[in-house]
Amino acid sequence: MIRNRTTATLLTATLLAALSMAAGCTPASSTAPLPTVAAAEVKGVPLIPLPAMVRPAEGRFVVDATTPLRAQGDAAGRVATRFTELLGRTTPLRLASGKGEGNGIDFRIVPAQAGASPEAYTLHIDNDGIRVEAGDEHGLFNGAMTLWQLLAGPQVVAVALPAMRIEDTPRFAWRGLMLDSARHFWSVEQIKALLDTMATHKLNTFHWHLTDDQGWRIEIKRYPRLTEVGGCRVPQGDAGRNADGTPNRYCGHYTQEQIRDVVAYAAARHITIVPEIDVPGHAQAAVAAYPEHGVVDGPTEPSHNWGVNPYLFNPREETLQFLEGVLAEVIELFPGPYVHIGGDEAVKYQWQASPAVQAHIRKLGLKDEEALQSHMLKRLETFLEARDRKLIGWDEIIEGGLPPQATVMSWRGIEGGIEAATHGHDVVMSPGNTLYLDFLQTNLPDEPPGRPKFTSMQKIYAFDPIPEQLQPEQRRHVIGVQANMWTEHTRTWERLQHNLFPRMAALAEIAWTPLQRKDYDGFLARLPVQLQRYRALGIAYGQTALSVAMQRQDDRAGNRVRVELSNPLGYGDIRYTTDGSVPTARSPAYTAPLDLAVPTELHAAAFFEGKPLADRASRWTLDAAALLSRTDKTLAQCPQGGRLLLRLEDDNPTDGPRETFDVSIFNPCWLWEGAQLQDVASIQVRAGRIPYNFGLLREEEAKRGFRKAVAAHGEFEVRDGCEGPVLASVPLPQAPDADGFITLDAPLRSAIGGSADLCMTFSGDTRPRMWVLQQVTLRTRD
Ligand code: ACM
Repeated sequence: MIRNRTTATLLTATLLAALSMAAGCTPASSTAPLPTVAAAEVKGVPLIPLPAMVRPAEGRFVVDATTPLRAQGDAAGRVATRFTELLGRTTPLRLASGKGEGNGIDFRIVPAQAGASPEAYTLHIDNDGIRVEAGDEHGLFNGAMTLWQLLAGPQVVAVALPAMRIEDTPRFAWRGLMLDSARHFWSVEQIKALLDTMATHKLNTFHWHLTDDQGWRIEIKRYPRLTEVGGCRVPQGDAGRNADGTPNRYCGHYTQEQIRDVVAYAAARHITIVPEIDVPGHAQAAVAAYPEHGVVDGPTEPSHNWGVNPYLFNPREETLQFLEGVLAEVIELFPGPYVHIGGDEAVKYQWQASPAVQAHIRKLGLKDEEALQSHMLKRLETFLEARDRKLIGWDEIIEGGLPPQATVMSWRGIEGGIEAATHGHDVVMSPGNTLYLDFLQTNLPDEPPGRPKFTSMQKIYAFDPIPEQLQPEQRRHVIGVQANMWTEHTRTWERLQHNLFPRMAALAEIAWTPLQRKDYDGFLARLPVQLQRYRALGIAYGQTALSVAMQRQDDRAGNRVRVELSNPLGYGDIRYTTDGSVPTARSPAYTAPLDLAVPTELHAAAFFEGKPLADRASRWTLDAAALLSRTDKTLAQCPQGGRLLLRLEDDNPTDGPRETFDVSIFNPCWLWEGAQLQDVASIQVRAGRIPYNFGLLREEEAKRGFRKAVAAHGEFEVRDGCEGPVLASVPLPQAPDADGFITLDAPLRSAIGGSADLCMTFSGDTRPRMWVLQQVTLRTRD
C-alpha cells in the first residue's frame, strides 16, 4: 500500500515534469506567469481515433487567451468545466471565461438527429469560431475530447485551427479496457489517471478485474474477511521475505468509499465501470477468507502462484447466497448495466474429487461439472436480472449452457464470440492473441516482463471485431471490443503505462473509427501528435516501439558484422551513425543492411517529419566481445521448451530495479543456433535463480520437464543440438552468490572446428526455484 502511494506521488511529479518539458515553461498548474510561446498551426486532422467524417473547409480560427468558451445549459456547462480543467492541466493555453461576446467556442446540446447514436457529435470550425454540438451530454463530451486533442498537441498558448466540419459517431457502443487490480494493485490515483486517458481516447467502458486467486480487492461490508484475509498475499521467493525473515505481505484493496469516488470520477468522463467478481474459479483468495465457501477442507491462503489454480467456490445454496450477498453490495456501488461474473479457467478438479459436490450434481439432475457451473451462473444471472443488471462473462460461460440473457466476452480467440452471436447473444470481442496487453509490444530485449509472444500495434490495428463468418443480422450482436491488461508480470506503474501506451491508440481506432476509414499509414502519421498529448497528460508511454530494432549476422572469421535495422511500428526514416554521435535527421539514412567492421559503435533512431520518435537513440557496441555473447533475450528457445515462454522478473531486490529473464517454464532451455566454435575453449554462463510459481492444468503439468541432476545440485550442460552429445558440463553450486547470480565456466570436452547448435540447460527440478540463463559467452583460447 505504501509503495502505491509513493508511485501516485511520482505520477504527479511526472505530469509536472512533462508539462514543463513539453511547453518549455513553468508547469501549467503553477501561479507563475506563463512566458509567451509561439502559436502553432494545426495541420491536417491529427486525431486518434479518426472521426467518421471530416470535411476540410476554407479558413481558420485562432484559439488563444482571448477566446471565450460558452456553454448553454447545465449539461453543456458540465462538459465545458471538464474540458477547461483538462486543457488547463495539459496545455499552457488558457481561454477567456464564459460569457464573452464575439468569436469563440460554443458547446451546445441540440435536438438529436433521428437515429443518431447518443455518443455522436459535430464539431465545426470556421473563421468565426468553433461549435461543438450533440444530442446529449455524452456526445458533447466526445466532441470536447476531439477539440482537446486539436489544442493539446501543439503545447503553445495560441493555436490556429484549420476550418473543417467533423461529423462523428462511434462504430461500437462498448469500447473497453480491462485492468487487473488483483494480481498487482493500482492506487485510486493511478486508476483515475487511466480513466482520464481512456476518455481522451473515447474509450467508454472500464472493466475492473477486482477478484482473483492472488487477491480480493473490493471491500464487502457483509464479509470483511474477503479483504482482511483475501487482500494480502505473501509473494514467492525473496520478494516475500523481509530482511528479518518475517513475511513481506503484498496487500491492497479499495474501500467502498474509494470505489464510489472512482465510479463518480469515471461517470464524469462518461466511462461506465464493469466490475468483475470471478465465479466459480479464480476464487482462492475468497476461499482463504471463507473456507466454508470453498470445496476442500482445511485452510488455504491467497495464492502466490500465477496461472490456473484449482480453488473453486462451493456450488451449494449457502455459497450462492454468499455470492448474492457480494453481488448485492457490488451493484449498490456500480450503477452501470453490466456485472462481469468471470467464468474463466475454472478447472473442475476440486468438484470432481468432492463427494458432496458430486451428490449435489446428482440431486440437481445435472449432466456434469460444466452443467453445474452453468447452473450457478444462471442463478446469479436471475439475481442480477431481478435488479435490472446484465450478466457478462468470459467465453467459458458457453460451456454447459449460456445463461439466457448473458453477454459473452470472447477471449480464447473469436470463436466463442461467433458461437454466442450466432445464438443471439451479445458479444464483446477481446481475443487473447490480439488484444492482451500483457503480451509484449515488440521483440526487443528492453521490453518489461510479460509474455514475449508479442502483440504489435499493427496486429491490434488490423483486428476487425466483426468476424466475416457472421451473417448481417448476427453482426449487430458484436457490441464492442476490449483490450485486457493482466498484471501478473506488471508490478509497477511505469510498466503498466509502457504496456498500455501507445497501444491504447490502436485500440481506440478499431473501437471507434468506421472500418472503411481505417488506414495504418495514416494512423502512423497521426501518432506522433498523440505522443505529445501523452506527454502533456504525464503518461510515460512505451518507447520500445518507437525505437530501432537491430538484427545482426556475425562473421567471426572476417571480424565483420551485417546489421539490419527497422522500426517496430514500420516508420521508414531511420538514421544512423557509427562515430559515437547521436543521430539527427541529417545523419545517413538507413536504406539497406549495413556491413560494418568490428568494433563499431552503432547509434540509430527513427524519425517522422524530421523529428525523432523515441526519447533516446538506440545504441549497440559491436565489438569482438559482443560477437561472442548472447543473452536470454537474443537466444532462441529449444523446441522442447514448450509453448509457455515468459519474461520473468527476479524476486529481489525488494526495492529498486530487478533483472528480467526469458525462460520457457515447461522446460527451461536456451538455444544458440550455428554458434561458431573454432578456437573456443569454454562456455561461460551467467545465471540467476528465481522462484517457480505457476499453477498449471494437470495435462500441462505432465508436459513439464527437466534433465535429471547428476551432481548434488545439478549442472549447467551444453549439448550439440537438443538431443545431441554433451559438449560441456559444469556442476552448479547449492545457491547463487550474494548478488543472486553465478558465473561458471564450462570447458568444452573436446575442440570443435566448426559450428554447433548449442542447447543449454540447468539440470535438476525447476521447483521451487529454477536457474535462469542471463548471458552466455564463448571463451577463446588465448
Ligand atoms: C482470461 O484470460 N483468463 C480471461
